[in-house]
Formats: sequence, structure tokens, C-alpha cells
Amino acid sequence: MIANRRLFRRAILFSVAVALTCQDLSLAQPAPRPAVKPLAQAAPAFPLRFGVAWYPEQWPEERWEADLALMQAAHINVVRVGEFAWSALEPREGQFDFAWLDRAIEAAGRHHIAVVLGTPTAAPPAWLTTKYPETLRVGEDGQRAEHGERQQFNFADVRYRQLARRMAEQMAIRYGANPNVIGWQVDNEIGVPSYDAETKAQFHRWLAAKYGPINDLNARWTTRYWSQFYDSYDQIPMHSRDENPGLLLDLHRFFSDTWASYIENQAEAIRGHADRRQFITTNTLGWRADFDPYVLHRRLDLSAWDEYMPTSKYAWLDQGAKHDLVRGYKRATFWVMETQPAFVNWGGINAALRPGQTREVAWQAIGHGADAVLYWQWRSALNGQEQYHGTLVGPDGEPEPVYAEVARTGAEFARTSTALVGTSPHAQVAVLNDADSRWALEAQRHTTAYDPVAATEAFYRPLALKAQAVDIISPDTPLAGYRLVVAPALNVLTQAEAQRLAEYVRNGGHLVLGPRSGMKDGDDALNPQRQPGPLAALLGGRVEQFYALDRPIAVAGEIGAGAAGVWAEALSAKRPDTLAPLHYAKTGGWLDGQAAMLTHRVGKGSITYIGALLEPALMTQVMDKMLVEAAIRPILAGVPEPVEVMERTGQGRRVLVLINHGDLPAEVPLPIPLTDVLTRTPVKAAHIPAHDVLVLEAAMGK
Ligand code: GAL
Repeated sequence: MIANRRLFRRAILFSVAVALTCQDLSLAQPAPRPAVKPLAQAAPAFPLRFGVAWYPEQWPEERWEADLALMQAAHINVVRVGEFAWSALEPREGQFDFAWLDRAIEAAGRHHIAVVLGTPTAAPPAWLTTKYPETLRVGEDGQRAEHGERQQFNFADVRYRQLARRMAEQMAIRYGANPNVIGWQVDNEIGVPSYDAETKAQFHRWLAAKYGPINDLNARWTTRYWSQFYDSYDQIPMHSRDENPGLLLDLHRFFSDTWASYIENQAEAIRGHADRRQFITTNTLGWRADFDPYVLHRRLDLSAWDEYMPTSKYAWLDQGAKHDLVRGYKRATFWVMETQPAFVNWGGINAALRPGQTREVAWQAIGHGADAVLYWQWRSALNGQEQYHGTLVGPDGEPEPVYAEVARTGAEFARTSTALVGTSPHAQVAVLNDADSRWALEAQRHTTAYDPVAATEAFYRPLALKAQAVDIISPDTPLAGYRLVVAPALNVLTQAEAQRLAEYVRNGGHLVLGPRSGMKDGDDALNPQRQPGPLAALLGGRVEQFYALDRPIAVAGEIGAGAAGVWAEALSAKRPDTLAPLHYAKTGGWLDGQAAMLTHRVGKGSITYIGALLEPALMTQVMDKMLVEAAIRPILAGVPEPVEVMERTGQGRRVLVLINHGDLPAEVPLPIPLTDVLTRTPVKAAHIPAHDVLVLEAAMGK
């Protein structure tokens, strides 16, 4: 019955979508949800790519040869070009100038450097925004953006989309068959929405397509509260905070779908003219939650992200999590489209990574499944907002100090490319990342100390250290291949998702839910059952009450002892076979002696609920226990902590990337002899100097 209703709703959505599509091809429609995503197609097998962002339009052409020769000497084999060059590509409306880009692509080709073309739509020209001011984004404060910055465009504006599409299409007509162009990046770091009247009207149409009769929306948003009851869609406000949670969640989904259609508008135009060998992607920003990355990437060929660290502190476990996150968008290898040559210019204190760490960062990306690493940028424009950013060559065109380290890394990539091509990390542990839950939690943190990303990282770190391979994926992903699935903050949990998770457990999987899970339904309404809502019966227990903590509370039990901070829930078991391995200390408060963790065996599987954010040592003990229960062993045992172990397999090959992130040399026992891919010598025991890298290959099956 429920399934039928959903089918019916989807049929309605589809017909409304078709009707709207006929009016305008490029605007956002509600993406059907939930949708079980298929496994991504195997990513095309690229040789490793190593590159830079190059802006030939900023330099006299006489300089290009010298730059390209210096790039080639650093083993750079790809440049990303064009992503802010709209005023150079279309200096006047409808008049395109591709001659310079033709020559730049050709010049790069002469140096065996391939090109990824960026569509320049993150930086519209002044003629465009002057003639069509409606293409400029309006902030929530009602202010229209002005020229001079970038990302000043309105993502929902029909005119902007037409002009952007024409630009992308012209580029694709020109370069879609160019043998030296290997791919496309649509726009650049999308994410800033617009709050203008037309976008608001589109939000209303999006809602109407989703809900149909307005009273369906009224019921699901509980608009009897504070007289929020709406008689028609055009009465609905568009604010990003202090609103009904149902509205806020739908606003995020609308923004997300609008971004997806914004990218698809250009991608579709490119696809119409580009060879199939050219990939289409866009560069994203790690944990930023401006859109649902799983929805955005459905129609893109690969995922790519921009990896930056605004301090000298290289929190390698957290950087690893971001790579795993991006790999999870398509469950395939990915690109690091931008990273810093030592330092950035936009942090508080833009301290540089220490010597050697730019190389360390690049190899970590490869270990986590990147097929390309590109530096931003080759050389600073002599003027413009980013003069202080790290580069590979200076204003005089001579190499900066970091150039030699980058060149070394490039040489290493070239040597290891054959071993790594077509390989990818494979994990038995999955961490669930859910856009709806993230948005719901961000809207009501309840305590400023709670951060859903930090909560996810707290679960991820011990898992990554001990299992040495973790996937971060959407809850819609098929879970059967994972032995352990951890949902650190699955706040929004629909019946359908709960059913899939329950099925996973009944089929022998081990599921761990973190605090705040299962509190809300798909409308961001409170679940009428206590947490974890639709999974409470399977758990055989529930959350009695949640508490924001202003001081840590002691937690102890058979697994270990430590403290919980920020958030704690009092749990209670409702079945005799639901066990409580951790309890809060008796401190005379609400949590006095209450269960902090519940676990219930279900056949060969289990479901566990952890009601508190545990301090790292105790979290490690708890995750260790879960890994043992799920029979997950590390790739390499006995590895000292600052050494990161990463493995890529495929094409009959098994490649290990070992990085010593520590300040002292480390010894890593190897169970079998391996070959050092960089030196082509056999290795029996791995001795890794501080901040150094080993790339080892084993025969498959060993
Ligand atoms: C990125 C952006 C680049 C450059 C870089 C500086 O976010 O895509 O164009 O601005 O930051 O770190």
C-alpha cells in the first residue's frame, strides 16, 4: 500500500515535471526521493594525471612556451584552463573569441600536456551583468550582488542559464572533438544561492510539484503551529533560518535540485557535442552542504574536489575522510581538481605546509582513490584578489621553493601510473552521510558545540585507523557488500530507509547508529516513536530523552571507560536480549546510571545505538569492538599510528601507499615481500622516514 502510494506520488511528480520541463528545459524539479542509487559505472581507466590551473588569458602569449616548458619539466601532464575566462571568450554578446584558446590548447599539446576545459560561468563578464542585471544573485538581505567578485550570478535565472548554456555549447562545438581536451569542468565551486523574487517563485513551483494540493504541505509541515497555515503556495516565505523545519529542509532540497539542474543545463549542452572519451565533472568543496552531492553527481562522469588546508596543520585523518567522501559520490575514483602549493591566501593565518608535506598531501589523495592532483595555481595574476596565494612559479616567472617538491611528486606519479591505473580502494566499512540529516541538524544544532561533520569525523577516525579503508556513502547506496555500516548522525530516517537498514541487519550486517539518529521523518517532523524511530523495534530499545551537555559526563562499562561530551541521550532497553554495554556515571543528574549504548544481536548481524559523543579513546574502544564483531581486519597489522596505510586494487594489481605522517621514522612489518614501485626494488620490511611515502606493489592474491 505504502509502496503504491509512493509510486502514485512519483507518477504525479513525473507528470508535473514533464509539464514544467516543456516550459523550460533547465529549471529545477524535485528530484524523486528516496531513490536507491545504482552502483556507479566503472570509472574510465585514466593514467594518473598531475597538473595545474593555468590562466593563459592573463599572460602575453610569448610567455606561454616558457611556462609550459617549466610545467613539462615538473612532469605536469594536464592543465585546467578557462574557468574564469568568460570576458576573454565572449568579449561582446554573441561574439566569441576562441583563437587564443585554440593556440593555448595546441601549445599545451606540444608539451604533452592535456587540457581540462572549465566553463567560465563562475565569472560572468561585465557586459552581461550590466545588460541583464537580473542575472546577478540577490542575498538574503535583499542586496543584489555587483560586478568585481566572482560567483555573483543567479543560479536560477533563466536568462543566465541560457547565456551560460550557449557559452558551454560554443566551447563544446569547438573542442568536443579536440584530441588534447580530455574533459570538462562545469562552472567552479558552485554553492551560493539567490533569494530574488524569481527564485522564490520557482521554489513555490517546486513545492507545488512536490505536494500538489496545498493542504498536503500544510499537513506535513504541521502549519497549525504559529498560524503558519498556507492557502496558496505564493504565501510561502523563503528564508534560510528561523523557519519551520519542514520548510527549511525543502528549501535545501530545492537549492540542491536547482544546482543539479544548473550543472546539468551546461553538461547537457556539452554532451551534445563532446566525444564520449571527454569526461564532464564539476569541482566541489568537501563537506560543504550547499547541495546533495549524490544527487548532483548522478549525471556527471566523475567527482572532483578542491582540497585546501588554511593552516600548517595537516589533519591527515580528516583530509582522508574528505577524499573518502568524494569517492563515495559515484563510488569510483575521483580527481583532486585543486590543491595548494604549500599555502593559501584566505585563512586566518595562511601558514605554509612544511617542506615535504605538499608531496605527502598529493600521495594521500592517490592512496584514497584520486586519479589526478592539480595545483592551484601555476602563477599568480599580477593583479587580482589572490596575489598572496601559493603558486609554483613567482611573479618573475621563476620557480618558487615548492616547485622542486612538486616536480619530484610529478616524477613519482609518472613512475607509478602504470601500477595504479584502473585500481581503486575497496572498503568493508561504510560511514553513512545523509544530506537531509545534515541540513536538519544544521538548522537545529540545539547546542552550538554540536557539529554534524565533527560528529561524523569522530566515528570515522578510529575506523579509518583500524580498518585502513572506509567508504563514506549515501544511505541509499546498496549496503550488502559492507560488513559494518556506521551512521554517525542519521537524524532524518524515513520508513523506506529504515526498512533497508533493517534488511541489512537481518542479512547479517552490523549497523551502528550514532546520537540523534532516527529522530525525524522525511518531512523533518518529529518521529512519533522515540529515537531511533522506525528502527526502535529492531534495536529493542529507545532514547528516553536527549540532553545537550555543558560539561563532560563519565561513561563506563564492559567496553571501557571515559567521558561523553556535547551530547548525551538516556537510553533504555525494552527487550531482555538488548544489552547495554555502557552506562553514564551516577552524578545526580538526569543521566544518572542510564544506558549510553544499546546493542541487539539479530541472527548473524547486529544493531547498536550509541547515545553520546564519546571522547576519542573510548570511541576507539567501541569502534574496535564493532570491527572485531564484524570480523574486519586491517590491511596491514601492527602499523604505528602516524603511518597511514592505503590500498588500491583492480586489474589484477594490488598497490599499497604507506605514508609516515609523523615526525619520527617508522618501521612497518610487511607480511609478504613487496616491490617498491618507485625504485623497482623488493622490500621485506618497510622503513619510512618522517613525512615520507612508500608505494608498494604485491602480486594479487598475496
Ligand atoms: C578555490 C577556487 C580557486 C582559487 C582557490 C584559492 O576555492 O576554486 O579559483 O580561488 O580557491 O585557494
